Formats: sequence, structure tokens, C-alpha cells
Amino acid sequence: MDHFQYRNGKLFAEDVSLEQIAAEVGTPVYVYSTATFQRHYRVFAKAFEGLDTLICYAMKANSNQAVLTTLALEGAGADVVSVGELKRALAAGIPAQKIVLSGVGKTRQEIVASLKAGIKQFNIESEAELELINIIAGEMGLIAPISVRVNPDVDAKTHEKISTGKSENKFGIPWHRTGDIYARIGALPHVTAVGVDLHIGSQLTDLEPFKIAFSKVVTLVKALHADGHDIRHIDLGGGLGIPYVAGAEAPPSPGSYGKMVANVLGDLDCSIIVEPGRLIAGNAGVLVSEVIYEKTNDSKHFYIIDAAMNDLVRPAMYDAHHEIIPVEENTAEASVTVDFVGPICESSDVFAKNRKTTALAAGDLIALKSAGAYSASMSSTYNSRPLIAEVMVNGDQYAVVRKRQTIEELIALDTVPNWLSR
Ligand code: LLP
Repeated sequence: MDHFQYRNGKLFAEDVSLEQIAAEVGTPVYVYSTATFQRHYRVFAKAFEGLDTLICYAMKANSNQAVLTTLALEGAGADVVSVGELKRALAAGIPAQKIVLSGVGKTRQEIVASLKAGIKQFNIESEAELELINIIAGEMGLIAPISVRVNPDVDAKTHEKISTGKSENKFGIPWHRTGDIYARIGALPHVTAVGVDLHIGSQLTDLEPFKIAFSKVVTLVKALHADGHDIRHIDLGGGLGIPYVAGAEAPPSPGSYGKMVANVLGDLDCSIIVEPGRLIAGNAGVLVSEVIYEKTNDSKHFYIIDAAMNDLVRPAMYDAHHEIIPVEENTAEASVTVDFVGPICESSDVFAKNRKTTALAAGDLIALKSAGAYSASMSSTYNSRPLIAEVMVNGDQYAVVRKRQTIEELIALDTVPNWLSR
């Protein structure tokens, strides 16, 4: 459930009309709902009630400081994948002891910053990385807490580009090497093994792949315990899918996911870390855009809108479906079949192909739903389109939580070298 609903024929975010936000802040604009973020976090937390669990929000989904602060106040930790995300999480008041560092390519700078901050654990993905962390921790006179990301070679049955748990993917340590790597951790002086980690993919709509992978991890942890390794946490990653298509069957609920985790991990004496991103953020945001033109080519009817693939790349990149609804409610039957497209010079700048919708006209506002995750955080300035504004609603108030970049600011990021001065 989210807090984007029609009231008296207009689409609202909580108690604020999207029409008002569009008029005051302009379009395109991302609009987030505080109550929806809170609700998703609380539903997820409730699903793990009774289990010793730390929720490390995967902030790559949406790393706006207002979002992070909202979640920090709920008690969330963070899964970070860069020094930039680490600094954002700390700035939002997420305690270092609730932060885990993931990623296949951690740099020296990222390792130093994480050790300095005193994060909960490094989720390592290669032997080379382990050796470097050991050296750096030694230089700093510290012992780094290590969790090994294992690759369980399980098919997550999701889009190929967001599937991460197969042996051909770049992620994690191959299953047959895990014994060796924990032995190596035991032999190194400045690292200590505290956990096991995995993440098999994103937008999973079936619990079975999770269950298979988690069961493999249970077997592994039992073997590690038997070998004397003090494994205290199991980090299950993120990946639980969300409903994108109205009326379609919903993915498993957080409740059933939590139950499955309890069943599979029940008798292990380990705490659990989970890294949900999309589940918390996805349906807590919409992208509001204006129809600029209507256009008909031989066989096609287009609505050209002022948002583009640089603002929401998911349809172009993953063939993702986002519901598109008018900001002014139209209760008539969908009467036209159109492509919703952006202005960018790429044939992939399409938000929806052959979508049935009620008729719209230039000047009408629309909302692209489920744009709270992997939208602003994946945006770019392609075609010299400045980064757009982000707005957070809370009850009857709203605030611009990232201002729209100006074209001057965008140009000012570049420098023309002396030899070109005229
Ligand atoms: N943990 C790790 C180590 C991850 O790599 C990810 C996502 C997550 C947690 C969070 O997964 P989630 O709960 O959000 O599924 N841009 C793509 C999604 C990429 C996911 C990358 N990793 C999209 O828009 O669908």
C-alpha cells in the first residue's frame, strides 16, 4: 500500500496535491511520501519480529539525505557500496555500527574511510580485496570485521541484468572456495571473520531461489562453526520484489519472506542482516511529468513527455514496466494505445510501448509510478538535461529535498583548459 491516491479527482501524495507540487516546483519532479517509506520499513521490520535482525537499507535504491534521515529515525542501518554512500549514511545519522560495506571493487580510500568510521562489516568479494583490507587495517592498527559474500550459483529467475547469484556473475566468492578463504582469514592478523553474506539478485518474485540459496548458506555456516570460525551474522542481501503492474499478481509479501527466513535459518545461532532497497523505496515515489506533444506517425501514436530516460532509465535498461496515470483522474475506459516517450535522441527513450490509456493532451500532468527506487539514484545529465528536483511530502507539508540543477551549474562543472582560451 502506498500513499499516492486520488482525492476529488486529483492525485495526491499524502495530503498534498501533485498538481500543486508541479505548479510550484516544476516538472519533471520526483515526489516521495514519508508515510510510505515509514510503512514499508515497518512492515519489513515486523516480518522479522522475534529474530535478531538488522535492516541495512540498500541505499543505492534512493540515497537522498531526506530519505536516509527518515529511515535512520526508524532505526535503519545501511548497505553502502562506495565512500560516497558511506558519507551520506553517516551524514544522515546512521550509526557506523549499523553500516555494512558491499561492492566488488572497494578502493583503498573506501576501505580507509570505512575502517576509520568503524563500520559493522566488510562484505568481501575476492581474495585480493581481503589481502588489501588486512594490509590497510594493519597500517591503521585495527582489526577489520569480515563477512564473505558467497556466490551460491542459484538462478534468481529475474531480469538478466539484475541477477547476481549465478557462477558466471562477477559477484561473490565461488562456492567451492569458501573453505579456503575462511582459512585465510583465520591466518591473517588484521581481519576477523564475523559473517557470511550473499545477494542473489533484485526484483525476485518467487521465494524459491531465496530458499535454495539460504539453505546452502546454512550448511556452509554449520561447517564453518564446526571448523571453529566464529560466524555471528548472516547477511541475506536484498532482492525481494515489489508490484509494478497494477492488477497483476503481487510478489511474496515481506511477511512470507520473513517466515521463510525463520524456517530456513531458525536453529542457527546467528543474527540476521537484510539489505532491502527497492522494497522500501520503490513504491514510495512517483515521477511527475507533463505531456509536451502528441504525435502520430504512420502506425503509432506518441505522447512525448518532459521526463526522459536520464530521469528514469529502468524501462530503457531493463524493459521495466512503470504504471503511468494521469494526475487529473479520468474514470473513463482506456481509449487509446500509445507509446509514452521522452525527448532524448535515442530510440530507447521510451517509458511505455503500446500502453492503453485514457486520452491525454499537451499540458496534462502524468505520474510514473514506482519511481522511488533506482530512479533519481540512477539519473544522469545526458543530453545536457540538468538533474531534476526531488520533493518529500509529509502529511500536508512538502519540501524540496534536492533542488533542480540549473543549466549554469551543469556547465560550470566543466573546465576549458588554458590552451583553448581565446
Ligand atoms: N544488497 C546488494 C549487495 C545489492 O547489490 C543490492 C542491489 C541490494 C542489496 C538491494 O536489492 P533490492 O532489495 O533493491 O532488490 N537498478 C536495478 C536494480 C539493481 C540492484 C543492484 N543491487 C533496477 O532498477 O531494477
